Amino acid sequence: MAKIVNSWNDWDPLKRVIVGRCDNSMIPPEEPATSEKVPVDSEMRGMWGLRPAKTVERGNECLDNLVKILEDRGVVVDRPTPLQWNQAIGTPDFRNDSMMTCMPPRDILLTIGNEIMASANSFRCRYFEYLAYWPLMKQYFDEDPDFLWTQAPRPRLTDASYKHNYYDEKITLEERLVRTANKDFVTTEVEPMWDAADVMRMGKDLFIQHGLTTNRTAMDWFQRYYPEYRVHAVNFPGDPYPIHIDATFVPLRPGLIINNPHRKLPEEQRAIFEANDWQIVEAADPAHDEPPALCYSSVWLSMNCLVLDPKTVIVEASEVHQQEQMDKLGMNVIPCDLRDAYPFGGGLHCSTADVYREGDCLDYFP
Ligand code: ARG
Repeated sequence: MAKIVNSWNDWDPLKRVIVGRCDNSMIPPEEPATSEKVPVDSEMRGMWGLRPAKTVERGNECLDNLVKILEDRGVVVDRPTPLQWNQAIGTPDFRNDSMMTCMPPRDILLTIGNEIMASANSFRCRYFEYLAYWPLMKQYFDEDPDFLWTQAPRPRLTDASYKHNYYDEKITLEERLVRTANKDFVTTEVEPMWDAADVMRMGKDLFIQHGLTTNRTAMDWFQRYYPEYRVHAVNFPGDPYPIHIDATFVPLRPGLIINNPHRKLPEEQRAIFEANDWQIVEAADPAHDEPPALCYSSVWLSMNCLVLDPKTVIVEASEVHQQEQMDKLGMNVIPCDLRDAYPFGGGLHCSTADVYREGDCLDYFP
């Protein structure tokens, strides 16, 4: 039996990875967690249903293209099994008129060493998304005797998990920023809630973004679950919609991070990086003024890259400024046309979940 699952960070040489699929993707109906999230001026406000078939086809084409780039470089690629996401769901605590998608896997699966854990997402529409990955988890379980197949405590997601009328329709961008600065987010603290994409893994240290999708109780839960790791809560006050750390603060290799210039890590949280001689560089500007149609994310998916090893990175093909910056930082850049997959949940990093990277758990902040 072989070792199949092992990954401690986002930069060690990548050997095996999961790439999402767009099939049957939905724009989910509003619910306490998401109605607060969709910007008031977004074209997606108030609309829900299956995403147009043409966009699904095109999104899948982009992802297949990424798969080919990875396979050509010897990386083994696994794919989830999509469900019929337009089904209504219910638990003893809530009902929702549909699910969402199995894009992006990064939000659902957290790999730490030989363990892959399904997260405790705060969106009701994502409650059963992990099922798309269960066939793969079973396969890893059968083939790798060391693999730990884990599910984080499932949140109940009753109405008590959310602040209601948290944003009224008229809230301005400035008011949103004040809320972010005050660490006042839509979720309450009645239970741990977190998205895997809010967790940045760096060996012995986990940097976790406190924001709209991950709460304080989750930080506490992580520290108790992993007593041998150091859990750091991080905040990016410039982000009016703080969801997922991977378009904000992105490591390229040990000692080097690119940081979104509109969402700078506060001085006091930089100290640990500076004390250990890490360089935090402002990311280059995105090449686009607008995200593609029906997209939840911002133009900063420009920096949402997939590092294949400490010298090689995949960057979206149209993001010429980001490519140029990576090149200057000494990385070999592989362009990949992925932009039409953005509406399904994100860029190159989001669209993937680590299965195997060479390397061990190191202490980068001794
Ligand atoms: N909140 C980020 C932005 O709009 C997008 C992050 C997407 N990441 C993900 N793992 N789904 O800039």
